Amino acid sequence: MRKKIVAGNWKMNKNLEETGVLLSELKAKFKNTPSVEVIVAPTFTNLYYASQELKGCDILVAAQNMHQAEGGAFTGEISASMLKSVGVELVILGHSERRAYFGETNELLSEKVKTALRHDMTILFCFGEELEDRKSENHFSVVESQLKNALFDLNEDAWKNIVLAYEPVWAIGTGETASPEQAQEMHAFIRKTIANAYNTKLAEEVSILYGGSVKPNNATEIFAKPDVDGGLIGGASLNAESFIAIAEAL
Ligand code: 13P
Repeated sequence: MRKKIVAGNWKMNKNLEETGVLLSELKAKFKNTPSVEVIVAPTFTNLYYASQELKGCDILVAAQNMHQAEGGAFTGEISASMLKSVGVELVILGHSERRAYFGETNELLSEKVKTALRHDMTILFCFGEELEDRKSENHFSVVESQLKNALFDLNEDAWKNIVLAYEPVWAIGTGETASPEQAQEMHAFIRKTIANAYNTKLAEEVSILYGGSVKPNNATEIFAKPDVDGGLIGGASLNAESFIAIAEAL
């Protein structure tokens, strides 16, 4: 059975002190349910602190990005082994903000994915169409090519470490969510695309999260869809009460 996951992408929010407050609130409210994996992704400067604070608690820590090289002259960048050395085993790659503001292409992401896999990290791989793509009814082909160009040269075994996060760009931080039907339609398409590229068994085992304005008041109906295995949460993950409410809706 595939994993159900709720992950909070804190983006460039929360300094050290604020991170401490949010983590304590999360720990106080969090009730571990073996059926749902809960992940938080604080900013780089607070990853070590977060991984220490969450020791003994079942909330996992992810990084929001990572460089593709093993090390060297890449001023300002962070490598996979640096993340692992501070207790981080998961990394978000391909977020639409990285694609839009930092020029990350599917080809670059393919390299980042391979580096993370070499370090046996789990990857939360984000992708999704822009508003223009949906308006021009190109959303399925855009998503298909994002998957194909970044992931479909991986061998089957590598997929044990891949979690997908479909995040339509027009729904991120806008308050406008995909309807549960739109999310289901795309998630079913993603699974079918993976089944065609690999096989049905693999497609059935991959967790596919939905991201884009998920809130406590809409999480239940989105998560009720059969191909939606959880959520990648931005704004609502910055508040312990709303994030836990979303995790409990799964
Ligand atoms: P919002 O939940 O704020 O729309 O952000 C979604 C997101 O980008 C998570 O990675």
